Amino acid sequence: MKQRMETPICDFVREYVEKDPLRLHMPGHKGFGETEAFDLTEVAGADSLYEAAGIIKKSEEYASQLFGAHTFYSTEGSSLCVRAMLALCKQTALQRGVKNPWILAGRNAHKSFLSGAMLLDLEVRWLWPTGADYLSCPVTEQDLEAALSSAEEKPVAVYLTNPDYLGNLPSLAPLANICHKHGVLLAVDNAHGAYLKFLTPSLHPIDQGADLCCDSAHKTLPVLTGGAYLHLAKRHRELASCAKEMLALFGSTSPSYLILQSLDRVNALLSENYREQLADFLALAEKTKCRLQKNGFVFTGQEPLKFTVKTKYYGYTGNEVADFLAKRGIVSEFADPDHLLLMLTPQIGKEGLARLEAALLSLPKREKIHSVPPKLSAPPVRMMPKEAFFAPKVSCPVEEAVGRVLSSVLLSCPPAVPVLVCGEEVTESALAVFRYYGVTRLWVVKES
Ligand SMILES: Cc1ncc(COP(=O)(O)O)c(C=O)c1O
Repeated sequence: MKQRMETPICDFVREYVEKDPLRLHMPGHKGFGETEAFDLTEVAGADSLYEAAGIIKKSEEYASQLFGAHTFYSTEGSSLCVRAMLALCKQTALQRGVKNPWILAGRNAHKSFLSGAMLLDLEVRWLWPTGADYLSCPVTEQDLEAALSSAEEKPVAVYLTNPDYLGNLPSLAPLANICHKHGVLLAVDNAHGAYLKFLTPSLHPIDQGADLCCDSAHKTLPVLTGGAYLHLAKRHRELASCAKEMLALFGSTSPSYLILQSLDRVNALLSENYREQLADFLALAEKTKCRLQKNGFVFTGQEPLKFTVKTKYYGYTGNEVADFLAKRGIVSEFADPDHLLLMLTPQIGKEGLARLEAALLSLPKREKIHSVPPKLSAPPVRMMPKEAFFAPKVSCPVEEAVGRVLSSVLLSCPPAVPVLVCGEEVTESALAVFRYYGVTRLWVVKES
């Protein structure tokens, strides 16, 4: 029987609630309401997220033990951790005396990466995907080696999204080796892969050599929305000593204690029998997937907790299958013309899998749809992202945006990753992509 980790944050808050004090401190609900009682602020003994020295520090130490890293909590998702990772990269570059730090990033980066790099004035150069599907950005060892060895001044870091939104999960270890050979950090957006640590063997980025990494605990572990981790590899003590500063740079001064308790509570679960629970569930999920495959469903991606269905092989768009499931009370994570993305966790159990399987099998198979997404070619960069973002802007129909400069970082979903980045020219090739995904309007830089 494994030793269940303690939950210092949950214990403190529970005792506080039991004492039933008159709360003459924030938040304004004073503990009244269905979920409010356990929502606290930094009262004496509750510690402080960005200057943790008590119960939060203890809880983060437990998380660090679980992940084998220097692990820090975020109550503002991986979005906050991504920005903190970039700030740490920028600091590293400046401390190494680099005048113009830059980062080499897989093009399928989340918008928090774009906004973070923009706010930090960190130049980004892209690794473009070689295949047609730009939702994924498979980076081969050859591509990475070529990009790093040809760079006169090396980037401070390579930034990869792994797993990607579709559940592709290439091996990071060889890429980490290449980065380290060139003296470059590997930073990984593992927003979708907190649970990878608990596979046997672990497929977590930190275990594959990444230097910095973030996980949205809330995406794949039983944690409240917003709960996330910033991890730094054990060898990076100095970076770890600055992590809180960098999180605080972008984070709210009022972190959610509900989310902190959720992160704290999950330590206990993860330390106990989660690994076994996950393995049992994955065996069932794999069998479900095999039966669906036998009935004509085609999947992509290797991430075991994600079913990414390539629905056109079954004769439907992803959106049509998502609607079909929604009518049967099953709500998908994401759908676009080509994909249906279903995120599973052991929490849905055998029953959830059976319900999903029955619903999908009740969908009549049709003729395969042959259309594919338009190919996107790299657009000209006309302005620095920050310059374009803060320039006077107008919103216009996509057709009228061709030849103009994009002035937004928010554009992304669908597809799940940015088609264009702020400062890039809206090209005919991008127009075709926007049309395909039903994007009708864009913010562009106002022409004088
Ligand atoms: C790949 C990727 N990175 C980062 C994020 C941001 O994560 P969070 O929602 O936890 O802030 C997301 C969110 O969907 C994501 O898909």
